[in-house]
Amino acid sequence: VLAEYGISPTHGFLPDVLPLTRLPDPYYNKWEAVVANLQGLILSKRLRGVVDRLPVLSTVGLEHVAEWRRAYMLLSFMAHGYIWGGDSPSDRLPLSISVPLLKVSAHLEVPPVATYAALCLWNFKPLFVDENIDNLENLATLTTFTGALDESWFYLVSVAMEARGAPIIPLMLTAIAAARENDVDAVTRCLHTFAERLDDLTTLLQRMHESCDPHIFYHRIRPFLAGSKGMSEAGLPNGVLYDDGSGNETYRQYAGGSNAQSSLIQFFDIVLGIEHRPTGEKKPAAQDDTERQGRAPPPKHNFIMEMRRYMPGPHARFLNDVQAVANVRDFVEQHRNNPTLCVAYDACLSMLRALRDKHIAIVTRYIVLPSREVRARSRSPEVTRNKVNLATASRQRAQPQGIAYDARGAAAVDKEAAAGKKGGANLKGTGGTALISFLKQARDETGEPAIEDW
Ligand code: HEM
Ligand code: ALA
Repeated sequence: VLAEYGISPTHGFLPDVLPLTRLPDPYYNKWEAVVANLQGLILSKRLRGVVDRLPVLSTVGLEHVAEWRRAYMLLSFMAHGYIWGGDSPSDRLPLSISVPLLKVSAHLEVPPVATYAALCLWNFKPLFVDENIDNLENLATLTTFTGALDESWFYLVSVAMEARGAPIIPLMLTAIAAARENDVDAVTRCLHTFAERLDDLTTLLQRMHESCDPHIFYHRIRPFLAGSKGMSEAGLPNGVLYDDGSGNETYRQYAGGSNAQSSLIQFFDIVLGIEHRPTGEKKPAAQDDTERQGRAPPPKHNFIMEMRRYMPGPHARFLNDVQAVANVRDFVEQHRNNPTLCVAYDACLSMLRALRDKHIAIVTRYIVLPSREVRARSRSPEVTRNKVNLATASRQRAQPQGIAYDARGAAAVDKEAAAGKKGGANLKGTGGTALISFLKQARDETGEPAIEDW
């Protein structure tokens, strides 16, 4: 059944057939050439001119799904490079990108922007094909905006986590089947293994610190991941104009690339029966007034649900279908008197909560602190005068290989941070969330279904 949803029993949401390193049809050589030189073109501010002169290529030369995925990856890197890689963001994509990108993304059932699928799932290669891809040492990216090792590492940690987490998918589908057959021992065993695997994933997540520098992430990489929805401070309050080739340009707004688009983590929530409420919504009392009177509260924006629309269509359908049959939480509840089962279930929640805790620490170090530094600099007149020098100096220290710094990229985000009210209230994730408050709520909700208080 997994294959029907484009899921691999060994690679999970990563493709079974490895991502292509090049489109086989030479018709697409120009796309390949632009992306092969993406960093240089962005740094020298030549990307827009080059892309404007590209012909509008057709998608008829794309055959195997791996080719469609590569085309999507190439076009979304070109699109975000084009939008964010100038002195100010471009709110318009040229026909050479918009026409094929709209076709390719419709085919793959993804939005026409750089999603987690474009940046991570379909953007890696193993160093040695006969070795595992859950090992960071065996992974390389195919494309980056900056050429910085930090950017590759940022994507590859996710790839390794997807690979390491992949066996949890068949494992927990087995648990659902076992619960249906009332096999307590089998469910307990699955939950045990799940908890151990979650711990592995947290260890992998922590490796972000090894090779991704927070300043490089914040100032050089992150600006390219930005979206045009819920993140207006980044500079595109109306969205981006796309022309589908019919001459009608329409503004479209999309969230930027975010790991919140990972189907794996949402799968964990679903199989464990964790529910995420719209941001800011408190846990309801056992039976609240509106419920008793049969009045449904107006539906609020639920970011985690919205992110399913940014996943490849088959993966999102998989999550919906698993949600319809998820029974483990109820099963554990019915066996409250079985301590081994309850402890195994609670251990999974506790491990997933720990993963979210480590993630919050990462977001603090990689986004909140660097944004505060920018605000502090812009408040101090002494420092403002020397801002350029200071910024250059700190970047040179951080990046000994001496890749020139893309001043614009950081400028938009710096402006966003500097405009932030006290404590950076305006600070937004690339997905458009209010960062820490959103992430803390998601973490707290992770513990809510626990059988025992802990
Ligand atoms: C959500 C930042 C790495 C998993 C978010 C959000 C931010 C963020 C700001 C809020 C949503 C948004 O507006 O975009 C970061 C940073 C990272 C990082 C700065 C590294 C430097 C990762 C990795 C994973 C991950 C490697 C892999 C598991 C998630 C998930 C969410 C999320 C699952 C959705 C919220 C949740 O389910 O708790 N991230 N992230 N992140 N991130 Fe990350
Ligand atoms: N979602 C991450 C951010 O906001 C990438 O920076």
